[in-house]
Amino acid sequence: MPAHVAVVMDGNGRWAQRRGLVRTEGHGAGEVALFDTTYGALAAGVKTLTVYAFSTENWTRPIDEVRYLMNFNRGILDRHTEDLHAEGVRITFSGRRNWRVPKGVLAKMDWAEELTKKNKRMTLNIAFNYGGRAEIVDAVAQLVRDKVSADKVDEKAIRARLYHPEIPDPDMVIRTSGEYRISNFLLWEMAYAELIFTDVLWPDFRREDLFAAIEEFQGRERRFGGLDK
Ligand code: IPE
Ligand code: IPE
Ligand code: MG
Repeated sequence: MPAHVAVVMDGNGRWAQRRGLVRTEGHGAGEVALFDTTYGALAAGVKTLTVYAFSTENWTRPIDEVRYLMNFNRGILDRHTEDLHAEGVRITFSGRRNWRVPKGVLAKMDWAEELTKKNKRMTLNIAFNYGGRAEIVDAVAQLVRDKVSADKVDEKAIRARLYHPEIPDPDMVIRTSGEYRISNFLLWEMAYAELIFTDVLWPDFRREDLFAAIEEFQGRERRFGGLDK
């Protein structure tokens, strides 16, 4: 079983457009997919599920869509945090906290994190206002602030300054909607992740799709640069 599964939840806009709906209705429909997948991961015994909810590049979208996504993510925390807490899920966030995110959303994030911080069954890590390059930049800035000398800069020193050094790297990354790219997700952490691509649009994704991806993962041979055993 992969300990850490990460998902690029893509294709909401196309899902809506195919139905003659506006793009934001696609985001709304993604809520069912997100929680069916989350509870599916919980049932399967996955220890960490990281989901890409909003990227540092998504700010370039039309203001109405950005505003919708901010409110939507706050609403998701309102609607699901207590149930997740009851199931023993710890909620964490990866991303820039003090850059552009509205105060009301930040307050809700702090609340969800605080309420669930002692939970051990699974971590739902929400990549929100997240960019892989931004994360590395933030880690390097912290190295400088910590006055780490050049000869002490190694992978361990950088990793210790990522958003969640305690979370192990993802074993697999799933991207939906038939796009074959990384889009600035977990650049450091996915160095040896197995990549799984599916044409399913995110709002149609369900736990069965997660289980199929896990099966595909289980058929892969991981080498980490070494030779087969
Ligand atoms: C993914 O769906 C959700 C976010 C990026 C917030 P998209 O909105 O990117 O949907 P498509 O890719 O345009 O279909
Ligand atoms: C990646 O999807 C970001 C999220 C799913 C939040 P995008 O739709 O933003 O990525 P591109 O633009 O297709 O690369
Ligand atoms: Mg997209």
